[in-house]
Amino acid sequence: MQPTTHELAGLPEPDSASLEHSNQTARRISQHIKQVGGRISFAEFMQLALYAPGHGYYSAGATKFGAAGDFITAPEISPLFARVLARQCAPLLEQIGDADILELGAGSGALAVDLLAALAEHGQLPRCYQILEVSPDLRERQEQKLHAAHPELMSRIHWLDQLPVGLRGIVIANEVADALPVERFRRVADGMEQSCVVADGDEFAWQRIAAPAHLAAAVTHIETYLGRRMPDDYDSEICLALPQWIKDVAASLEQGFMFLFDYGLPRHEYYAPDRSEGTLRCHYRHHAHSNPLIYPGIQDITAWVDFTAIAEAATDAGLYVNGFVSQAHFLMSGGLEQDLAHMVDLDIKAQLELSRQVKMLTMPGEMGENFKCIGLSRGELTTPAGFAFADRTHTL
Ligand SMILES: C[S@@+](CC[C@H](N)C(=O)[O-])C[C@H]1O[C@@H](n2cnc3c(N)ncnc32)[C@H](O)[C@@H]1O
Repeated sequence: MQPTTHELAGLPEPDSASLEHSNQTARRISQHIKQVGGRISFAEFMQLALYAPGHGYYSAGATKFGAAGDFITAPEISPLFARVLARQCAPLLEQIGDADILELGAGSGALAVDLLAALAEHGQLPRCYQILEVSPDLRERQEQKLHAAHPELMSRIHWLDQLPVGLRGIVIANEVADALPVERFRRVADGMEQSCVVADGDEFAWQRIAAPAHLAAAVTHIETYLGRRMPDDYDSEICLALPQWIKDVAASLEQGFMFLFDYGLPRHEYYAPDRSEGTLRCHYRHHAHSNPLIYPGIQDITAWVDFTAIAEAATDAGLYVNGFVSQAHFLMSGGLEQDLAHMVDLDIKAQLELSRQVKMLTMPGEMGENFKCIGLSRGELTTPAGFAFADRTHTL
């Protein structure tokens, strides 16, 4: 997810329809807060702001992706992302045989469109391309986009309402883990606090309370792993839903490989003492800022991903961690240069555009370093080339 500017002040004014939608979403969340006694956890607030049926940012009709939306993701930046991923998937599909692909949270459908096109070129189309998408609005957009691009493949593309049983194949999730609701906590001298959300009319404010036992236990688990206490007055986030999400996906994978891409860090960096304000980020019209309590329903709310939590949950569920690399290393060792070989035949304008896309995907200051890919598998499978260089699994 890549905004073009980073600033707190100076957010663009929403148009009247967006403002009305946001006000309705705020009213709904505010009513809910009153009904449940005047306070909700931040994770519940984030869940409602993003996924409340008919209102949430992902559930309702905001544009979200691309220039006219709020942020841009790797598959939206360039088909090169899907083409390199296809290079990794093709040999896996061949090894598994009669295999499916399951994409979680497919957004606009851009990755599915380009991945299927590239896999067709490799002669390795999956038996089925399954999509599990929680947003009815996005599901509709995915169907339209895929139908326009690949009408001949629609019979093998299926949308699921829940994880499949006995999946043999490949699971792909790009920027889904960062969209799972997180809890916000503060380490204080005599314990742990939870940052909750209260409503004042249709506006929201933070209220900190003593952390409930399950949250305190989860943060203590992190401190035990780190071998140190977090500093006093240290604010951060934890995604309590993440381990179960990984375990559920693992349970559905009978044999195969999972590629999980997101921006994030190994735990010791995620909870580094100087990262004392957490990683919560909001995206509105390509502006990144850190106030999730404004513009409910029309801005995206995300947090970076603790990749150690993914590795822990995956290994608990019997998966093997094949590799953990930056997006830049994944693309470069995964064969990006082969997808650029035709560049010499393009006119100068097209060459410049392609090189802009490569820079956005791979430069350390863009998506190259903050974005990572973790590869997880069940069963004997050859680790894809994308993990061959600069593997950081030992940092998890
Ligand atoms: C930031 S968007 C990324 C979309 C797309 N993968 C891309 O890279 O452009 C997050 C996506 O995950 C979906 N999502 C969120 N939670 C999910 C879940 N538990 N299972 C499946 N999809 C989910 C959202 O509706 C949305 O499509």
